[in-house]
Amino acid sequence: MDNNYLIDTHSHINMIENISIDEVLKNAFENNVKKIVVPSSSPLDIDIVYEISQKYENVYCYLGIHPEDAKNWDDQIIDKIKEYAKSNKVVGIGEIGLDYYWDKSNIELQKEIFIKQIQLANELNLPINIHDREAHKDTFDILKEYNKSSKVIMHCFSGSPEFANECIKEGWYIAIGGVVTFKNAKKMKEVAIQIPLDKLLLETDAPYLTPVPYRGKENQPAYIKYTAEEIAKLREIKIDELTKITTQNVKNILSI
Ligand code: NI
Repeated sequence: MDNNYLIDTHSHINMIENISIDEVLKNAFENNVKKIVVPSSSPLDIDIVYEISQKYENVYCYLGIHPEDAKNWDDQIIDKIKEYAKSNKVVGIGEIGLDYYWDKSNIELQKEIFIKQIQLANELNLPINIHDREAHKDTFDILKEYNKSSKVIMHCFSGSPEFANECIKEGWYIAIGGVVTFKNAKKMKEVAIQIPLDKLLLETDAPYLTPVPYRGKENQPAYIKYTAEEIAKLREIKIDELTKITTQNVKNILSI
């Protein structure tokens, strides 16, 4: 396949409520979104997301535990992920990281579970899909200290242009979602303009963070085109160019 199609690098299609997964995929395909990666969040999610990746040809998954679910961690999860990772539809460990927005009461536990999953990714030689919400410094420091070999995607990047630069220096990829289409998202627009194109990825984080013009409604992979259009406009390049480059970037980092 040539690269003239979009890839949604982070989409919880299992959490979309208003339409079925079949409809989600049909809409995506009709809007030139040909591949989708679905992250897991909770322990239960690991089974659900894995099953979806096995059932649908163009759907892949990241397996891992979201920091909000750190309290539900169990070391047996490592064995389960290792088993599932024998499938080539498992393309990374995620979404993992730190979240100080929802819950600051268990920071030490979040860090511990994050580190275990970084080590798992290194062992399995898989990329890492990072969730970092209001925890930029700790996320950065832990990745620097513990990640030995895995490629890193900063999912739904929400830091400053300066923090984006720090991440780029480490060779990490920056994934941008629908927030960049929001009128008041000045910082995100700056990030989208200044990061090197070869480090840029697109995602929806559906069903959340729906881009304009559907902001406030449930998100789906088909809407990634609005994010792509906004970034192309900001960077003054053609949408086809952005599409091809970001899809090549995905192929450089994920086995898709
Ligand atoms: Ni997510």
